[in-house]
Amino acid sequence: MAPKRIIIDTDGEFDDVLALALALSSPEIKVEAITTISGVRCLEDSTGDVLNTLELMGHTEIPVAMGFRQHFSKDMTSNWERVRKIWATGGRSSTSPLRKPDIRAVDVDAVELLISKVMQEPGEFTLVTLGALTNVAAAILREPRFSSCLRESYTMGGAVLVQGNMNPVAEFNIWSDPEAAKIYFNSGLNITLVGLEVYYKARLRQDQWNNVAQSSEAMQYIFENFDPWIKYLDRHDPSKAGALEIGDALTIGAIVEPDLFTKQRCFIDVETKGELTSGMTVGYGLSARSPAPKTMNTDLCVDMNANEFNKLFLERVKKGF
Ligand code: RIB
Ligand code: CA
Repeated sequence: MAPKRIIIDTDGEFDDVLALALALSSPEIKVEAITTISGVRCLEDSTGDVLNTLELMGHTEIPVAMGFRQHFSKDMTSNWERVRKIWATGGRSSTSPLRKPDIRAVDVDAVELLISKVMQEPGEFTLVTLGALTNVAAAILREPRFSSCLRESYTMGGAVLVQGNMNPVAEFNIWSDPEAAKIYFNSGLNITLVGLEVYYKARLRQDQWNNVAQSSEAMQYIFENFDPWIKYLDRHDPSKAGALEIGDALTIGAIVEPDLFTKQRCFIDVETKGELTSGMTVGYGLSARSPAPKTMNTDLCVDMNANEFNKLFLERVKKGF
């Protein structure tokens, strides 16, 4: 079977670059473009680490376009400062990448690259989103045929059946731009949603990640660069006993090995106005008491086989890119 042709929109965090590692080591997938968005860190930091990852993995042919610095719904500046303080407690005064890439982002912006790729070959591309949905929502607003010309999409985001990670109801990628997420979920796209129902399930034990961290120059860089963040994740949840989450990589896993995931078809919408609940992903059709509208938009991943996913991730990434 021909590999799936994918475009990835990412905020360049630790688990995002591990998602890139899995995508670039998977023969079922061909990554044809990457767009970046600010998120946990500012746009320059997230883009820098995407470029570093591609360069070290030997995939400099993939165009990278920079997207929005700020989101529709929120000014993220105070969040970046909060994260900088977290990195400082891990021994680094800045969240900038440790390494300066030789390659650069292309001259067009993320929205332009998304639209031109998708509209040149309608029906060909699968979109993968690993950050806030600002770039994608802007593409949907600018080009009304954008969503219908995509084949499908896979998204890390949301907490439909479980607690959020920014507050009790909202997950970071949706919380940081609810307006954009609402546009995305109501665009007619067929979405596979990898949210917090499964995000924290695939964790590498310390011996496993020590092993993968030494498997290539690219992996060495990733683990060294994100060390302050890895230390924070460890402190944040002592119940993990040193295990490390690789969440966004699950979104690639859902494309490569769909059978590892249990899904429920539903309709997802996003709360944008709630005083306490802005960024909440609301699922219809998941129980008889909340019937779905006529058209469902989402396959929600409700469970997964974490052991098999970890095995797949380790085998692929250790083999190289
Ligand atoms: O909530 C987890 C998400 O937020 C992941 O995509 C992580 O990389 C950050 O973007
Ligand atoms: Ca991410």
